[in-house]
Amino acid sequence: KLEKWWLILGVSALIIFLIVLGFGAFYMGTHPQSHGLTIDPNNVEANEAFQQENLGLTKVDEDHYIVNVVASAFNYDLGVDEDGNSVSHIKIPKGASVLFQVVTTDVIHGFNIAGTNVNMMVEPGYVSSMEVQMNNVGEFTLLCNEYCGVGHHMMFTTVEVY
Ligand code: CUA
Repeated sequence: KLEKWWLILGVSALIIFLIVLGFGAFYMGTHPQSHGLTIDPNNVEANEAFQQENLGLTKVDEDHYIVNVVASAFNYDLGVDEDGNSVSHIKIPKGASVLFQVVTTDVIHGFNIAGTNVNMMVEPGYVSSMEVQMNNVGEFTLLCNEYCGVGHHMMFTTVEVY
């Protein structure tokens, strides 16, 4: 009978759909920005990028920058300035291409620069990274959008594009 074949076809299509969906969610959803690069959350300094002197903004060339950040409850460590004070603010020239590399030393944190495409989940054990061109001038709020404890709502700083 024809109906039987339609039923088999329908069920097969559904199964294939679920498999594709399942794999997609597994590969994309679990570690969306890690690209598989792992790190020991108890010793992030083992990776040169996350040593204190390499945190914050680094100029690579005229229009390429790197921003290395160590997130922890409830702060984004951006390194220290020439005077030894903690950097609390990132200033990026308009049009620059910026590679953000972020790790956490404790729980899962978010790394969202409101009003831009930068939105990452930062998980213990993984390096989250993404490269973004900062085309809009303004002051943007970098905030944690993953609940991480009592100080979660205080975990934010500003990124200025000038
Ligand atoms: Cu860190 Cu919420």
